[in-house]
Amino acid sequence: MHISLHHTFALVAAQSLITGVLGDFSGPSFPAPRDLTSDQSLVKTAWNSVTKAIEAQVCGPSPCNKRKRASGSSILEAARNITFSIGLISIHDPKAPSLQFHHTSPEIAVSTKGTTKVDDKSIYRVASITKVFTVLAGLLKLSDAEWERPLSNILAPLSNQNNNGGVLSTPWDKITMRALAAQIGGVPRDGFPNLGEIALQIRQTNASEARVMAITGLPPSSIIDPLSIPPCAAYVERNENCPAEPYLQGVANRAPTFSPWSTPAYTNNGFTLLGLAMAAVTNQTIGKLYQDNILDPLAMASTFSDPPPTSEYPRSVIVDADTGFVQPNGIFVSSGGVFSTTQDLARFGTGILNSTLLAPERTRRWLKPVSHTARLQYAVGAPWEIIRHVSPVTNKVTDMYTKSGDSGLYSSWLVLMPEYGFGFSILAAGTSLSRFEVVATLADTVSQALLPALQQQAEAEAARNIAGTYEYSGPGELNSTLVLTAAKDTAGVVISSWVSNGTDVMPYLTTIAGPAPHRLLPSVDYDARPGQVAFRRVGNVDSPATSTGGLETGALFAGPGMAAADWVLIDASTYYGAGLSLFVFDVASDGKATAVTIPVYRVTLSRSA
Ligand SMILES: *[C@@H]1O[C@H](CO)[C@@H](O)[C@H](O)[C@H]1NC(C)=O
Ligand SMILES: *[C@@H]1O[C@H](CO)[C@@H](O)[C@H](O)[C@H]1NC(C)=O
Ligand SMILES: *[C@@H]1O[C@H](CO)[C@@H](O)[C@H](O)[C@H]1NC(C)=O
Ligand SMILES: *[C@@H]1O[C@H](CO)[C@@H](O)[C@H](O)[C@H]1NC(C)=O
Ligand SMILES: *[C@@H]1O[C@H](CO)[C@@H](O)[C@H](O)[C@H]1NC(C)=O
Ligand SMILES: *[C@@H]1O[C@H](CO)[C@@H](O)[C@H](O)[C@H]1NC(C)=O
Repeated sequence: MHISLHHTFALVAAQSLITGVLGDFSGPSFPAPRDLTSDQSLVKTAWNSVTKAIEAQVCGPSPCNKRKRASGSSILEAARNITFSIGLISIHDPKAPSLQFHHTSPEIAVSTKGTTKVDDKSIYRVASITKVFTVLAGLLKLSDAEWERPLSNILAPLSNQNNNGGVLSTPWDKITMRALAAQIGGVPRDGFPNLGEIALQIRQTNASEARVMAITGLPPSSIIDPLSIPPCAAYVERNENCPAEPYLQGVANRAPTFSPWSTPAYTNNGFTLLGLAMAAVTNQTIGKLYQDNILDPLAMASTFSDPPPTSEYPRSVIVDADTGFVQPNGIFVSSGGVFSTTQDLARFGTGILNSTLLAPERTRRWLKPVSHTARLQYAVGAPWEIIRHVSPVTNKVTDMYTKSGDSGLYSSWLVLMPEYGFGFSILAAGTSLSRFEVVATLADTVSQALLPALQQQAEAEAARNIAGTYEYSGPGELNSTLVLTAAKDTAGVVISSWVSNGTDVMPYLTTIAGPAPHRLLPSVDYDARPGQVAFRRVGNVDSPATSTGGLETGALFAGPGMAAADWVLIDASTYYGAGLSLFVFDVASDGKATAVTIPVYRVTLSRSA
């Protein structure tokens, strides 16, 4: 973007008039914390207390002592009847996966098939977390041009359908694999027939059609076009998987939910189609794509794209002993077919966050939203369900890249927080109808306990590693000193005093960047290679009262969100080519800074305290 000098000065001038400048980069306010598991770690402390609270709600493994059971969230009480495993993920603390919590429900404790006590090697169905495997396999195997291929060009039954271009026709020639991966293709939500198909429900529950008609006002089946009986119906009736061809014929002529690239709209069918398209383009089964590109390289030996073999049953969480893990997934593997363990999901999450399979810049691109929903705190990626947490204390926004799963008797959540190199998984099983709600509540409980702890631990480590006094140490004399602090709840290392060659720089900082605190945020670390970390100086943390950036006054264009936006002004002011906001720290392998170079001042200051 070209910014004229005039424009730059106008923005700088406007910024200095505004208090409560937004800190609007979406990233860390400190280097990610490294110690999540020692007895001194605030994350470990928070984990211990949140798991103790969960334990009190579910009352431990049966038999439950009623007197000990805490009263609290009724949803967490329902967790007692659900078997679940929670495990932490971190690329900075290799011991983090040892922080786990497992609860075996009475139902599983007496199961006649599979495990009767869960741990991190217990195999659950992960359901729609599978969609992350599918997209990652695609990122590893498909070229950019392949991602842009329309489905009509890949899957024959979608090319010769009777597409008249009307609102009831799904435009398969405009829907690309990339759009499907980001849940924005507008394709029908599910295959046909699907679980939400009322005719199927009538047959499955043996309800009388007349009674359903009386409640719903829907017309009787006798007057419905027999062509609307989907080609897959016969397979579904026989409890068999529908093969690709009839499946595609069944969805080809269904109405779209939206035009492609209009709005995210969740679709399992989209991921079935994506899997079929990937298999066609690569000439490999989706299972083999997972195995060769993800499971083998990440040593995820307990992860399966179809129900695991019976030799794995002793450690499998099997809710229904009659059906076991039911039949193979057929064409639905790519949407929800994966089985895995807490231990393997830690390997998976670590592999993603540590860029083990994808280059770091491709990982960062992947961990970004693709589109908005109308809810400000919820965006959608490929296939990420992105939940934005706002700290009530510092107003800092942390994006959580998550994927939920819910299928049959299993629910799950994978949660990644890229800025902390951290995440967690929850795997759950049980017949309870509250199962998914319980998993969602557990995800809230765990993230709300750990987010402040991660931030405070990062702050505490920054106080030890970055904060301190940096002084000029020769050659020659120069009265230059920079003092940095990492005080509580500042959401960044703060410049508390700065003298350059005898001149107090603080009044100048206030002129160019508004009132203190002046924060330094990590900006470039060359992908965790120790040695140097760059930081950028940014404006004040916005106070909660002004957090809407002008929403309450209606000033979206003129408010602080625009006129003082850090992201617009970053690096706008320079002196002989060096940015005024750039600070580069020399960092030893233990994370401790030894010196800071301030390129615009052409000076390196050594850390003296
Ligand atoms: C757990 O299941 C038992 C047996 O089905 C039931 O009696 C009880 O009410 C359930 N508890 C909760 C909290 O849902
Ligand atoms: C992350 O990747 C780096 C560099 O490849 C490696 O040294 C490190 O062990 C990895 N961390 C984890 C937790 O796997
Ligand atoms: C529906 O009817 C069939 C045949 O009579 C029976 O086997 C099945 O158990 C019934 N299903 C339900 C849910 O009642
Ligand atoms: C696809 O794979 C099959 C089986 O591996 C092989 O026989 C066939 O030649 C492949 N087709 C193409 C076009 O590569
Ligand atoms: C420090 O200030 C003195 C006095 O203004 C000036 O002569 C000198 O060039 C400055 N040195 C540096 C390195 O800024
Ligand atoms: C360095 O400069 C500061 C700010 O002008 C001044 O207060 C301090 O006395 C100076 N120190 C030395 C050793 O000259």
